Amino acid sequence: MSLALIVLAAGQGTRMNSDRPKVLHPLGGVPLLAHAVRAGSMLEPERIVVVTGNGAEAVDKAVTELDEDAVCVRQDEQLGTAHAVGQAREALSGFRGDALVLYGDTPFISKDTLDRMAEARLGGANVVVLGFEAADPGRYGRLVTDGAALMRIVEAKDATEEELAIRLCNSGVVMADAQKLFSLIGEVKNENASGEYYLTDIVQIARGRGLSAKVVVCPETETLGINTRAELAAAEQAFQQRARAEAMENGVTLGDPDTTYFSLDTVIGRDSEIGPQVVFGPGVSVESEVSIRAFSHLEGCHVSRGSIVGPFARLRPGAELAENAHIGNFCEVKNAQVGEGAKINHLSYVGDASVGARTNIGAGTITCNYDGVSKHRTEIGADAFIGSDTMLVAPVRVGDRAMTGSGSVITENVPDEALAVGRSKQINKAGLARRLMDRLRAAKARKAG
Ligand code: UD1
Ligand code: MG
Repeated sequence: MSLALIVLAAGQGTRMNSDRPKVLHPLGGVPLLAHAVRAGSMLEPERIVVVTGNGAEAVDKAVTELDEDAVCVRQDEQLGTAHAVGQAREALSGFRGDALVLYGDTPFISKDTLDRMAEARLGGANVVVLGFEAADPGRYGRLVTDGAALMRIVEAKDATEEELAIRLCNSGVVMADAQKLFSLIGEVKNENASGEYYLTDIVQIARGRGLSAKVVVCPETETLGINTRAELAAAEQAFQQRARAEAMENGVTLGDPDTTYFSLDTVIGRDSEIGPQVVFGPGVSVESEVSIRAFSHLEGCHVSRGSIVGPFARLRPGAELAENAHIGNFCEVKNAQVGEGAKINHLSYVGDASVGARTNIGAGTITCNYDGVSKHRTEIGADAFIGSDTMLVAPVRVGDRAMTGSGSVITENVPDEALAVGRSKQINKAGLARRLMDRLRAAKARKAG
């Protein structure tokens, strides 16, 4: 069946105490909202509609970055969850299939849970609501059931004592035929304790029309919503724990799992080894049999099979290592292709560059890529040897099998197989060191009195 995903993300998030819209706070290296979009995307929806309101401009931009086919619809006033879903009606006019409603601030709904909701729909339930047994039901909506049937949902504010005793709570996730859902929402009124249009009212309205409603239950950990910075921090920990466990299940060795930090989209191949205190920012893919040693920081990069990175290495966006490349301590690589078996092992900066296969970059090499206005590229061929402390002033090219003398400032292209030495000639002044030291000693003695 075709599916449309509707993600609610218009709420203010007052309790974050932030100028930034709540759904844009980062979790696992990506905006909070990305988690819900990704969860929903696992069911391969044909359409994605995100309802934005507070901070809409920034949220819309983030949504487009996540998925350029996603559509944002505006909810100017936050009149309630039913009203929010209703904003997607026009964008989905003519859409035939189911709608799945997720909250942008609820990141951990699993594919298994969504699959079970889809199964319940296939099994004939008209409205499927995701519920959970709450340890502390607090202000969650309560699910009033009769056997397997869901009768209605009552918000805590509107509930009787008896209803408040119910522990089966509403997660907010709903699945139903899209057009039926909009038709049900059309009947929702705002005559309740909050004066809001409650999405939860559709259950009772559906039943009044002779339609059926059913609950699918998931663990409470999945329905965790984020309202405060403390909850965001707790969610980050939960995310990291899960990502670490998953990596290990996938055959990755973590030297000290509690200190490895992943992003939502981190990919690491089998039999790779990650040392302690390694951070994977967004957009990192690492192939098999790679060693990322302690205290390395990676983002937006690709590391091919057999490579060694770190300890204390930094791979920035656009770093692409071919197989068996070595990036050692205190090296930074940015927007650069490093060829197969190439080595950049000590204290170097390689940015806006390409380094050919098997080339060795000596300690302290720097690609001087920025002239204060623009960035320029450095191209280094294959099997080249860059002497220690070479400054490569871009744009510049060093040919295949070429060498540079240590301490060189290279401002002109070096032809294939040439040795370039770009430094002033050394002069030795006989006895000058002794005379200088004598003078210093005398000055110190005078000062000491
Ligand atoms: C909602 C449910 C409640 C459930 C709880 C789970 C209703 C009426 N209540 O309550 O049964 O137990 O979630 O967390 O649905 N939003 C909009 N526009 C609006 C209102 C909300 O986009 O006009 C978004 C919010 O940004 C948020 C989500 O919808 O992501 C839920 O809204 P929230 O105000 O948190 O609903 P709750 O009162 O928590
Ligand atoms: Mg809420």
